[in-house]
Amino acid sequence: MASKTAVGIDIGGTGIKGALVDLDKGELLTDRVKVATPQGAEPQDVLDAVKEVFARLEVTDTSVPLGVAFPAIVKNGRTLSAANVSKKWVDFEAEKFFEDGLGRGIHFANDADVAGIAEVRYGAARGKDGLVLLTTLGTGIGSALLYDGVLIPNTELGHLQRAEKKKDAEFYAAYSAMEREELDWKAWAERLQWYYDHLELLFSPDLFIVGGGVSKHADDFLPLLKLRTPIVPAVHRNNAGIIGAAALALG
Ligand code: BGC
Repeated sequence: MASKTAVGIDIGGTGIKGALVDLDKGELLTDRVKVATPQGAEPQDVLDAVKEVFARLEVTDTSVPLGVAFPAIVKNGRTLSAANVSKKWVDFEAEKFFEDGLGRGIHFANDADVAGIAEVRYGAARGKDGLVLLTTLGTGIGSALLYDGVLIPNTELGHLQRAEKKKDAEFYAAYSAMEREELDWKAWAERLQWYYDHLELLFSPDLFIVGGGVSKHADDFLPLLKLRTPIVPAVHRNNAGIIGAAALALG
């Protein structure tokens, strides 16, 4: 039997990445195509970049589903927030906008939530009971809350406020903060310690999973953290968003 396939496209604050995915195995079937997220991330520019990624994948069979992940709250096809993209996405019919622009149907959801789906189906959260909290450390901080394998969507835990600084967690502790402030692993890990301590206090999870591009360097910073809760890198690292977006096709 031919394996089930779908295309996943993961729109991030810095890059837009896509691939054809084998949904039986949760693996990429093609090389990853990546373009830079256009400056300002205006809707039309992002649509054009998504079109380019999709075209470069050369998937001409229209029956192959397409999942698109976006870095904002997504409810009933609308984007409701815009932390690292143009404010035009706030309260915007984004799913329909992509469908009209691409001339085909899509599945549409938050980027961290789909990374959570990928890790439940094919990665570090597979078969894991209790509360799993996946965070993606990138331009922003995304979160996926999973209880007994079921996703509770749109948790937005990157925007926990740091009362004393009047800034949110992602401004202080995302990977972009490390780059912006040229922090070394130790200085960044101190910020992550604050963040994961706070999440641990609020949620008492059974497992933390760390995704985002920097998760490939997990050995440089995860051992520096002292937590009660086990903390592991996402098995699919920065591809969890692509795989999870494709997996939306499975419902
Ligand atoms: C957004 C989230 C997103 C995360 C990671 C945050 O700024 O509010 O919706 O999941 O960045 O991209």
